[in-house]
This record gives sequence, structure tokens and C-alpha cells, in this order.
Amino acid sequence: MTAELLQGRIALVTGGGSGIGRATCRILEREGATVVACDIKESTARETVNLFRDPSKHLALMTDVSKAESVDATISAVVAKYKSPPTLLVNSAGVTGIGPMKSFKEDSFKNCIDVNLKGTYLMCKAVANAMEKHGLNKGSFVNIASITGILGLKDNSCYSASKGGVIAFTKAISKELIHDGIRVNSILPGPIETGMVSAHAEIVQQAIRERTPIGRIGQPEEVGEVAVFLLSDRSSYMVGSSVEVTGGYIC
Ligand SMILES: NC(=O)c1ccc[n+]([C@@H]2O[C@H](COP(=O)([O-])OP(=O)(O)OC[C@H]3O[C@@H](n4cnc5c(N)ncnc54)[C@H](O)[C@@H]3O)[C@@H](O)[C@H]2O)c1
Repeated sequence: MTAELLQGRIALVTGGGSGIGRATCRILEREGATVVACDIKESTARETVNLFRDPSKHLALMTDVSKAESVDATISAVVAKYKSPPTLLVNSAGVTGIGPMKSFKEDSFKNCIDVNLKGTYLMCKAVANAMEKHGLNKGSFVNIASITGILGLKDNSCYSASKGGVIAFTKAISKELIHDGIRVNSILPGPIETGMVSAHAEIVQQAIRERTPIGRIGQPEEVGEVAVFLLSDRSSYMVGSSVEVTGGYIC
């Protein structure tokens, strides 16, 4: 890819302080985009931006994607700095929801849906409306779902349901937002080496590797590269797709 691929574009990444979100921010910066790294942990978003060649051109923000006020304040902060909302969006903020369904707590269920699914809705809605308000009609959104959203992972029913919701939500809004010049697609990662997977014991990680034909756990950059491809014009005919990045993993 050339350094000009996303030159002049403003890209907002939620969950930008860690894992897949941070890796995506770094690839976006490499490709010339102005990057807005958002995270509920502001210090980690700041750490991401401080990895860039010129951090002052970019923005690190505290955003709780599950709260409409926080999402709206984020878009206002971007417009205040750049006189324009983002036109590229990656929804990577996410939480796990581990435990057997029969004893899974209602509060935990709500939190998982609020961050993973409602957060995706709030961000897509806010950016699409801000683009319309500013007369912008060329954008691309990428929602990070999960392969568990179509396969269903045992003892992860809420997480799997939230990600299945993200896949369906992406397909539905892609049919609406294409009329505003916005392409929307989702990525379904398999096991990726971030805090979410490395927290598991080695024996669990070994079991994951055994269920992954490529024989290893993926790197966050391997998802980030696909996200940046989907944001760029190189994927110009892709609308409503669910792209699997799994090493062949079967859960
Ligand atoms: N790692 C994997 O194996 C894997 C597999 C499939 C899908 N995913 C998905 O990829 C995405 C990124 O996960 P990751 O693996 O990089 O994990 P991660 O924990 O490294 O990153 C998630 C980030 O989201 C942030 N976050 C959590 N709640 C938030 C909120 N309310 N508002 C804003 N930010 C919030 C966290 O602070 C963190 O920085 C998630 O949506 C996850 O479900 C991960």
C-alpha cells in the first residue's frame, strides 16, 4: 500500500487504546489518515497516539461507547479540532461475557450488549448523522464482530449473541447508509493475541491453537490490515460483508 492510501481522511477508532483497535490506529497512521483514538481508558488512547510520528496531528479521547452523551461529546471534540467529523469509523471497543448461561448475571448480560451492540449502533448513528450535517457523502465503517457471532461459543452465549447482533446490524444499516455514500462491513476475527485471549491459561490457549488449522493465534495487525482495506477505496464494491479473519478457527 502507498503512504497516500488514506491521506486527508479522518478515522475514528473505538477501543483504540488496546489490541485490535491500537493495531488498526497504527496502520491508519502509516497510511496517512488523521487518527482519533477513543477508549474508555483515556490514558491508553493517549499511549496509542504517542506512538505516532507526530502525535499533535491526531487526537486521543475518552469515550464510553455505551453512553449516547459520551459518543456525542466525542464527535463534537473531533469537529472542534478538525472542523469536520470523521468519515472513517472502526468500532473495536468490546467486552467479554464469559460464563454458562444458567448462572449468567443479568447485569453482565446488559453490560455486554450495551458495549458490543448498542455501542456499535450509537457510534454508527452519530458519525452518519454528523457526516450528513456537514454535507459529507463518502465514508466507510467497519464493525469488529467475531466468528462466535455465527458459530456460537459455549459458555459465551451473551458475547456470541452480541456479536451476532453486530453482524446483522451491519448488514441492515449497510443497505441504508450506502445511499449516503457510506459503505459498512464487519470483520469476524477468530482468536487474536490481545488481552482477551492472553488472559486465558496456557492450556486453554493450546486448545485454541489445536482448533485453528493455521496452528497459531492471530496477531492484532492481521485484523487491522483487513480493517484498513475495508476503509479504503480498494474495497469499493464491498457492502454489508462479514469478513472472516480466523486462521480457519472452529469453536
Ligand atoms: N481478541 C480476540 O480474540 C477477538 C476475537 C474476536 C473478536 N474480538 C473483538 O475485537 C474487538 C477488540 O478486542 P481486543 O481483542 O482488541 O481486546 P482489548 O481488550 O485489547 O480491546 C478492547 C478495548 O475496548 C475498550 N473498551 C471497553 N469498553 C469500552 C467502552 N464502553 N467504551 C469504549 N471503549 C471500551 C477497552 O478499554 C479496550 O481498550 C472487540 O470488539 C472484541 O470483541 C476479539
